[in-house]
Amino acid sequence: MPAPWSPESWRSKPIVQVPEYPDKAILADTETRLATFPPLVFAGEARDLKRRLGEVAAGDAFLLQGGDCAESFAEHRADNIRDFLRVFLQMAVVLTYAASMPIVKVGRIAGQFAKPRSSDIEKKGDVTLPSYRGDIINGSEFTTQDRTPDPQRQIEAYRQSAATLNLLRAFTMGGYADLERVHQWTLGFVKDSPQGQRFSELADRISQTIAFMRACGITSENTPQLRTTPIYTSHEALLLGFEQAFTRLDSTSGEWYGTSGHMLWIGDRTRQPDHAHVEFCRGIRNPIGIKCGPSLEPDTLLKLIDILNPKEERGRITLICRFGSDKVEKALPRLIRAVEKAGRGVVWSCDPMHGNTIGAASGYKTRPFERILSEVDTFFAIHRAEGTHAGGVHVEMTGQNVTECTGGAGAISDAELSDRYHTHCDPRLNADQSLELAFLMAERIKQERETVAQAAPRTAAE
Ligand code: PEP
Ligand code: CO
Repeated sequence: MPAPWSPESWRSKPIVQVPEYPDKAILADTETRLATFPPLVFAGEARDLKRRLGEVAAGDAFLLQGGDCAESFAEHRADNIRDFLRVFLQMAVVLTYAASMPIVKVGRIAGQFAKPRSSDIEKKGDVTLPSYRGDIINGSEFTTQDRTPDPQRQIEAYRQSAATLNLLRAFTMGGYADLERVHQWTLGFVKDSPQGQRFSELADRISQTIAFMRACGITSENTPQLRTTPIYTSHEALLLGFEQAFTRLDSTSGEWYGTSGHMLWIGDRTRQPDHAHVEFCRGIRNPIGIKCGPSLEPDTLLKLIDILNPKEERGRITLICRFGSDKVEKALPRLIRAVEKAGRGVVWSCDPMHGNTIGAASGYKTRPFERILSEVDTFFAIHRAEGTHAGGVHVEMTGQNVTECTGGAGAISDAELSDRYHTHCDPRLNADQSLELAFLMAERIKQERETVAQAAPRTAAE
């Protein structure tokens, strides 16, 4: 029998990655106040996402998850949200067409503020300060004032998340997600991209399909599915006091839900089975992601799945694999085999970002586009070989024209990284690199589809 769970039962467990707040009383008051604020998402939406992720686990849909490594207060502008959404929707249309499957769209947005760090402190010369842990905790400037954790920032993060979510809902329900409009943007990208020729065939086929549907009388004016689309939110459930404040009892089901976002994930540094972050996540009914890095042993993974999904609920667990292009081949097959042997249904998603971060000669942290693509490629190849569904991708991206990851069709060089390096944490794919990745993945997904079709030809009676 599992031990009893409550929204605060995590507090009696060991925990890592916690900020040192100077005044615990102010922190406690802030959490009490947050607990009175309206939830950001509704439990029914989280259930809906879980059902869709269940379809991904079954091989009938694909997950697209992406957004900033860390959202920031300074960059909270309507055009940033709009530009992210534009590229994200374009990626989704390309992937929908290639996969002939629904694409489940989950943003790393409207709550992705707290960051785990490899060190608690940062040193510059003689000065030692606490590390920057994300805008919900402290500021990134190297000053004592900025780096001191401040509970008031949690209120600001809530306000920003609510405003972001509101705009996302307005855009996706109000016509901005119109398929024809999204596809027009993609045609613009294909026209301007150095790789345009390679992508134009797929883009043209989408154009033809839209024209065919229009000729049949199916248009966005008369078909809401062509002009609206659900987009879900997600973030790392790292700052547990904040998460606890948004853990609410759902009156429909009588179950607890985290209402700070639809999907929450456990980071690679906080996934110890007997620690606080796993304890917290086991009691909420949202879909849960687990980051799987090179140090994760198959036995530990099975233990985590047992703890987090004892009732074998479909769509509950997404394994977000982030090994690195040089490690994925060794690390992934043994996890897949263990999970398959235990008969556990999960979503396998590929995060090709976090295992491929390198220090560039220029001093910037970067991620070479070729390595990102190589990890995605290997991930797909391994799933093909194991007979499992490569179910999704998880990327750090922005709609802005930044220079943070090297390579891609625009061939961003190490020397160019300083031009527009704006991230508050890890390097992100820019708008063109994101779309390029979607086109390249579309080619892989099509191959997977063809392999599956050849292996199991459908009979007329099916
Ligand atoms: C992240 O997703 O930004 C992150 C910190 O990832 P991981 O836990 O996989 O290192
Ligand atoms: Co990151």
